[in-house]
Amino acid sequence: MRKRKTLEKIKPYSAGKKYKNTIKMSSNENPLGPSPAAIRAIKKDLKNINTYPDPACSNLKKALAKKYKVTENQIITGNGSDELMVMIAATYLNPGDNIITGKNTFSEYEFAANLMDAETQKAPMTDGSFNLDAILSLINSKTRIIFICNPNNPTGTYIGKTKILDFIKKIPEDILVVFDHAYAEYVTAADYPSDRELIDSKKNVVILHTFSKVYGLAGLRIGYAISSPERIADISLTKQPFNNNIPAQKAALAALSDDGFLKKSQNINEKGKKYLYKELKNMGLFFYPTEANFICIRLDRDSREAFLEIAKRGVSIRALDSFGLAGWIRVTIGTEKQNRLFIKALSSYLSDKGV
Ligand SMILES: Cc1ncc(COP(=O)(O)O)c(C=O)c1O
Repeated sequence: MRKRKTLEKIKPYSAGKKYKNTIKMSSNENPLGPSPAAIRAIKKDLKNINTYPDPACSNLKKALAKKYKVTENQIITGNGSDELMVMIAATYLNPGDNIITGKNTFSEYEFAANLMDAETQKAPMTDGSFNLDAILSLINSKTRIIFICNPNNPTGTYIGKTKILDFIKKIPEDILVVFDHAYAEYVTAADYPSDRELIDSKKNVVILHTFSKVYGLAGLRIGYAISSPERIADISLTKQPFNNNIPAQKAALAALSDDGFLKKSQNINEKGKKYLYKELKNMGLFFYPTEANFICIRLDRDSREAFLEIAKRGVSIRALDSFGLAGWIRVTIGTEKQNRLFIKALSSYLSDKGV
């Protein structure tokens, strides 16, 4: 039996690992756990899981439409935003087409392109940020989608509104621009673009969101995309009818209105960020200022060795060689206790190496 040729290009996904007896700071999950309101909502509805879920995810879409001041036909939900990336690729890519993204970013854009036998063009990045001019210069007649991760995983850098809106204006009408806002709720920069501004700027803009990060629901797999009614209608053609299960729909809806949990998660992130910045500076390490719930740190050492050595000292972090950043690591901002443990493990490792 011969599998499709394009599958030869696919490398297995390299997920954030958890070494045994360590705390996990490798996957940008919420260190506070899930929203308590979400847990209550799941428990209440467990008795109904003999039935199929609502294929339209209506209640959640209604709530999201209200939040973003858009109409319900401007939203589609997915089994995590990962699924939406594949759905978008399945909607717009024919074999031989290409997507453009950055050199050091989330790998699932390339995965989705590979599935459709499309090429991935990777634009060089500048100081850990997407370089929009470099992206523009890669556009050719086969380009169908541009994926921009803002803030970017794994660097944590972001691009402001003026640059983004100017960029969108320069994109030809037959190219889709997808902004991945997986970490948007953590952003504090005043000039971060609002979803509404981006969606209103052009029909062919799609914004991806997830409940996996600040809402703490990574294990349930639920995310959503916002765009024009036209693009959502296109993408809906690839949707499996029951892609969001009942617990995921209920939990997401409850988490969305759990403002207390959202604020608490944002506050703990800000506090942790300040502490980690201070400690990393004291250690003389270079890192990118982050607008997300993780920090990208340059160690100038083999990042796999760093992963193993830091894990031996009780903390699992992410080696960034698979993101094209050999010598760099990424750590999720955790609770006060977790952040202290990480700093202790990192300084012990570096001092044992004579750094
Ligand atoms: C930039 C980015 N987008 C999307 C995802 C995945 O989101 P989901 O869990 O909704 O599939 C991640 C997960 O790490 C991410 O870093």
